[in-house]
Amino acid sequence: MSSVDSQQRVLSGMRPTGKLHLGHYHGVLKNWVKLQHEYECFFFVADWHALTTHYDDPSIIEASVWDMLIDWLAAGVNPGSATLFVQSKVPEHAELHTLLSMITPLGWLERVPTYKDQQEKLKEKDLATYGFLGYPLLQSADILLYRAGHVPVGADQVAHVEITREIARRFNHVFGREPGFEENAEAAIKKMGKKAAKLYASLRKRYTEEGDGEALLTAQALVKEQQNITLGDKERLMGYLEGGGKVILPEPQALLTPESKMPGLDGQKMSKSYNNTIALREEPSEVERKIRTMRTDPARVRRDDPGNPDNCPVWQLHEVYSTDDVKAWVQEGCRNAGIGCLDCKGPVIDAVKAELIPIQDRARQYEDNPDLVKSIIMEGSEAAREAAKTTMEDVRHVMGLSYR
Ligand code: TRP
Ligand code: SF4
Repeated sequence: MSSVDSQQRVLSGMRPTGKLHLGHYHGVLKNWVKLQHEYECFFFVADWHALTTHYDDPSIIEASVWDMLIDWLAAGVNPGSATLFVQSKVPEHAELHTLLSMITPLGWLERVPTYKDQQEKLKEKDLATYGFLGYPLLQSADILLYRAGHVPVGADQVAHVEITREIARRFNHVFGREPGFEENAEAAIKKMGKKAAKLYASLRKRYTEEGDGEALLTAQALVKEQQNITLGDKERLMGYLEGGGKVILPEPQALLTPESKMPGLDGQKMSKSYNNTIALREEPSEVERKIRTMRTDPARVRRDDPGNPDNCPVWQLHEVYSTDDVKAWVQEGCRNAGIGCLDCKGPVIDAVKAELIPIQDRARQYEDNPDLVKSIIMEGSEAAREAAKTTMEDVRHVMGLSYR
């Protein structure tokens, strides 16, 4: 795998937070399940990232890792389609992190918005640590280690993908300059054959002189489809397009995860810290109890007081789960007090329970067989390590560390 194929690769990670809920499902997990059929996907548990903020309480991390993995599998993330692994099982993440740290200006890390924000938010913790400052760099190592072209993340993580791009660019600039790079690149152009060489040269010119991004994409595709030149030459041609040296670590792109429409039980965003969640492995009776006790439009004190769905968190659940017919029934029945709030909640209770049935069935298989989960992770971590090793060989080589 070289920078040339990175557009096909997706990588994403999650810190181990324990059991997941419907907010995770409707946001991240459904997206991963879709992506696993479209790309070569690597999904991993960022346990080292968890330690940056929970170093004083590491005992909870392991249980959280297994709980979270069971929920990924239960949600339909498929180890036959995607590679699932745990960060700390692939020590190359740490090696790349160290090597990248050599070229990372402190100011870049200090300026990442999450650095100060999180320190403010988690005031009770001492986050004036080296590990916490390096959080985004460790994340950059996670991404660059697999030469992933796409990184599905929420809006809060886009800045981390951005700094990853800057670090890749700097790395390629510093270490991608082999002696005689330009001559080698020019020679590689000739090797493509007359027609392709001419097209490459004109596209490159359009990009470097006019900033034409379309031309860059076309040229990259052109390089990719060449059959008669070596991988080294392909990388030179890729790098030459953007002016630097060889592309050793390709720049990834954030693939913004669509914001989850799943509201919490109180109408705010569903989140553990708001205590308004329905877990993927919530007992059906608990699902029922939680929805039945949800607050509704405060105007409906008595059964015959009319209400307004716009002021009611239950309506937001109908927006996620109900058909147009049911929604019309709610609108009408709420506004003219034709239905009671418990009637109104019935279809939502049924829909959530129905959604959770296949998820919980799958979860049970894994709960009953913890060794199966462990073997999935051992295998995934092995496979991830193979991919990681390829990158590290190139990285060590350009940094003068291959001692061959
Ligand atoms: N920082 C991410 C989060 O909090 C988790 C993460 C770690 C990650 N490494 C990553 C996400 C690499 C994408 C790619 O959600
Ligand atoms: Fe909310 Fe439904 Fe009650 Fe209206 S009828 S207030 S939408 S629960």
